[in-house]
Amino acid sequence: MSLIFFLVLFFFHSHSLPVCRNSCANIEIDYPFGIDDGCGAPLFRNMLNCSTTFTPLTTPTTTTTTNTTAPVLTPTFASPTIASPTTTVTTPSATALFFQTPSGSYKVESIDYASKTVTIYDPSMSTCTILQPHHDFLLSDLQSALIPPSPDTVFALVNCSIDSPVLNHYKSLCFNFSSDHSCDDLYNSCTSFKIFNLFYFLLSNDTPPACCFTSYATLKFMSMNILDCTHYTSFYDVDKLKDEKPLDWSYGMKLSYSLPDTGCDRCRRSGGTCGFDVETEGMLCICSPTLNSTRQCGDGPVAGKAGEGLVFLHLSLTIVFVYVYVFIFMS
Ligand SMILES: *[C@@H]1O[C@H](CO)[C@@H](O)[C@H](O)[C@H]1NC(C)=O
Ligand SMILES: *[C@@H]1O[C@H](CO)[C@@H](O)[C@H](O)[C@H]1NC(C)=O
Ligand SMILES: *[C@@H]1O[C@H](CO)[C@@H](O)[C@H](O)[C@H]1NC(C)=O
Ligand SMILES: *[C@@H]1O[C@H](CO)[C@@H](O)[C@H](O)[C@H]1NC(C)=O
Ligand SMILES: *[C@@H]1O[C@H](CO)[C@@H](O)[C@H](O)[C@H]1NC(C)=O
Repeated sequence: MSLIFFLVLFFFHSHSLPVCRNSCANIEIDYPFGIDDGCGAPLFRNMLNCSTTFTPLTTPTTTTTTNTTAPVLTPTFASPTIASPTTTVTTPSATALFFQTPSGSYKVESIDYASKTVTIYDPSMSTCTILQPHHDFLLSDLQSALIPPSPDTVFALVNCSIDSPVLNHYKSLCFNFSSDHSCDDLYNSCTSFKIFNLFYFLLSNDTPPACCFTSYATLKFMSMNILDCTHYTSFYDVDKLKDEKPLDWSYGMKLSYSLPDTGCDRCRRSGGTCGFDVETEGMLCICSPTLNSTRQCGDGPVAGKAGEGLVFLHLSLTIVFVYVYVFIFMS
């Protein structure tokens, strides 16, 4: 029994779960990103977060077939077949990947490693179909430098007051992102923004309030309060939206990241996963749950002999312990 116990212990110790998870909610997680600390590039540390949220009933898709009131009406001695749909209804959970910034967590829709882009979506942002009060979108200085919104991500500041800087001194920050798309387009064809046309027409018989298509740089330097616009929306892939109606635009933000050259390729070629030491933030090549190297795995100039040595020591000690244990029991 004791021998088995020891062997099981050793087995679990050396064959535990991979150090770095490589996916979250069907989105591949690869260098330079990581969702476990010590994985990916240190510059991107804590930017992504894979979390399971227990949300109240917001998505009707999961509850279409079950009637939430039905189990309540059934007698208390209900069979387990009725109990199971009840649990799925009361605690719907969804695992999702989030991009964390100083202004909040934004759901990651996709990561394209070939074009080095991350598409994120802010559920509290206005779109062509929903009007929601603005809140600032902010990136840290490091994020602004490393993973800023791509040039083809456009922000539309809506219902700006006549005193707004973008209508006065900073007028030049606004542009028409293509010859046939102006702000009037948004006011005229979006159910959410129609209110601005209507409101101003009814009350003052005046022109609708100004709006401004601008880039992230504007939001970076001026908060929404300074900009004096009540709502904003953002969309990406603007080159593809020329002939599309605002309803069909891709709402959200596309971030474009640059990849620091830290020698990850060498580690990967040797079969390792790139990571870093959580204390020193120095690069590590994670070869197995029990072996980290500084550059690469396997043969070659492996600098991280210390880790390898520890594994060997651990293995030797376990074998010695097992032998001693067996010896004591046998005698
Ligand atoms: C290897 O590095 C990873 C990431 O920093 C860490 O989680 C893990 O504990 C390290 N393993 C060893 C054996 O040092
Ligand atoms: C991950 O995101 C969730 C939801 O936004 C947040 O509550 C949590 O604090 C985050 N975890 C970490 C480690 O940042
Ligand atoms: C759900 O249950 C209520 C109360 O029994 C009933 O009136 C309603 O029609 C049911 N809805 C569906 C979709 O079955
Ligand atoms: C538009 O902005 C004005 C202030 O400039 C504000 O009073 C008004 O409530 C806003 N309209 C909507 C629909 O939020
Ligand atoms: C943008 O389009 C509107 C409407 O077509 C036009 O009035 C305005 O002059 C254009 N602005 C620029 C900077 O081209």
